[in-house]
Amino acid sequence: MSMPTPIVFLNGDFTPITDAKISVLDRGFLFADGVYEVIPAYAGKLFRLSQHIERLNSSLNAIRMSPPLSAQQWESTLNKLIQQQPDPASDQSVYLQVTRGANEQRDHQLPEQYQATVFAMCQPIASHNLNAIALGIKAITLDDIRWDWCHIKSVALLGNILLKQQAADQQCTEAILLRDGYATEGSASNLFIVKNKQLITPPKSHYLLPGITRDLVLELATKEGITCIEREISEQQLFDADEVWLTSSTKEIMPVIELNRQVVADGQPGQLWQQVSTAYSQFKTQLRESDNDQ
Ligand code: PDD
Repeated sequence: MSMPTPIVFLNGDFTPITDAKISVLDRGFLFADGVYEVIPAYAGKLFRLSQHIERLNSSLNAIRMSPPLSAQQWESTLNKLIQQQPDPASDQSVYLQVTRGANEQRDHQLPEQYQATVFAMCQPIASHNLNAIALGIKAITLDDIRWDWCHIKSVALLGNILLKQQAADQQCTEAILLRDGYATEGSASNLFIVKNKQLITPPKSHYLLPGITRDLVLELATKEGITCIEREISEQQLFDADEVWLTSSTKEIMPVIELNRQVVADGQPGQLWQQVSTAYSQFKTQLRESDNDQ
């Protein structure tokens, strides 16, 4: 039996992905002139939706676009999209993208008027991937070759994907990025270290994406009674850490057990990771069993 064609959302319509088409003049295609979000849905319930929409709106504002949909419109659109998936109650990630749409001609300068292109699709979150990650991942450090506006969730990800590929070429899952001797974030994740039972993560700045998972990890760790500190992490402090974690919506909390081919501490996911990761799983369970999005 063949798989049903996935249904996606494009500019107001729910349509099979094979019928979803955009213009070759779309500024997203020509200039990467657009922004995106990735929002997990557990048992069909959207995870931290209002925080994701808030970040989307701040990315849009940074690139001089206005929100094409209100928070309520996003909520009903994304819930309708989830309901149209083959297994709406499974764990999925919702990808959404907003670009500045198509002009008659390719022109670098922003058009005075535009019709945004609004797209969303669902992809399964595979639990076996998360189980493999929980055993620990390998990472390398690389110089951050990206631009200076990393707080915008821009679809221009060439820097990120080339960095990720350099890690993959060395059988590593992630690249931890360095700027002027300080570790900022991963190529697609935020960075935490543990030192002397304290949890440390770089403060929000233009050099990293303000991760939704990052904020939740800080919230949960604080509730667990762990001291959390937002401060710069030097390259040396990264190598001296007791634990290193990388966080993202789709990969959750990844314990790094090998960094630049050296084991981190004893080469096992650490104690604080176990504690916060358990709290994270409980948070997901509560969401699955709740009536509302969280
Ligand atoms: N990326 N930093 C970067 C550069 C990222 O690309 C991501 C996530 C994060 C973590 O953000 P959050 O916790 O909100 O997912 C940090 C997504 C998952 C992606 O591009 O697929």
